[in-house]
Amino acid sequence: MSLEADWGTIRTYRSDLRLIGTNIGARMTIIKMNNGDLFIHSPIQLTPQIRQELDDFGRVKFVVAPNDFHHLFVKDYMASYLEAEFLGSPGLRAKRPDLKFSRYFSDEFVPAWKGEIDFVVFRGSKNFHEVVFFHVQSQTLILSDLVMNMKERYSFSEALILSAIGVHHRLGPSRIVKMLTKNRVLAQDAFRRILQWPFNKVILAHGTLITADARNQMRQAFAWLA
Ligand SMILES: [Fe+2]
Repeated sequence: MSLEADWGTIRTYRSDLRLIGTNIGARMTIIKMNNGDLFIHSPIQLTPQIRQELDDFGRVKFVVAPNDFHHLFVKDYMASYLEAEFLGSPGLRAKRPDLKFSRYFSDEFVPAWKGEIDFVVFRGSKNFHEVVFFHVQSQTLILSDLVMNMKERYSFSEALILSAIGVHHRLGPSRIVKMLTKNRVLAQDAFRRILQWPFNKVILAHGTLITADARNQMRQAFAWLA
């Protein structure tokens, strides 16, 4: 669990995360906004070390559970950052009623960070929503599970699992995301809006960061919806 990328106003942290015996890793993104407040995307386990680093970096103001699966550690942040606002993917209202989010994302939501961070709500189906973000200052697209980029070294058994879910050494969605994306018209519309952002790098929750040729790579990764 350690600091990975440090791009000034935006940082990423990585931790291990095992899924069916495979370490797919998990990534948390921290944006330091113009007023010094922190926006935390997809929180990982809140260890004393992570807490110290967050507190040294700025004031934790917004904590985002960006899709219907990335909510596992939100409760710890709720207990620790009583002044923060907690924002959830639309599907978490029904899936995690025990988590008292300040609000859930919708197209009508006008956040305090408008102008610094933009967002699009991807609605795959009633069981899969993901809120996708664009940090204007760093020109960074921030995804969670919509696309995976599993291009590291894996054991034989890990490679088998990654191949089975369709993401071994390729950039794209897992078979699970494809299966859960029932409404292709809404999905295409969300991707079209995402591709209008002038991003030049991509942060995703699982796999290697994309720092070169980002727009072309994302166009190819979204091609399955065309
Ligand atoms: Fe995930």
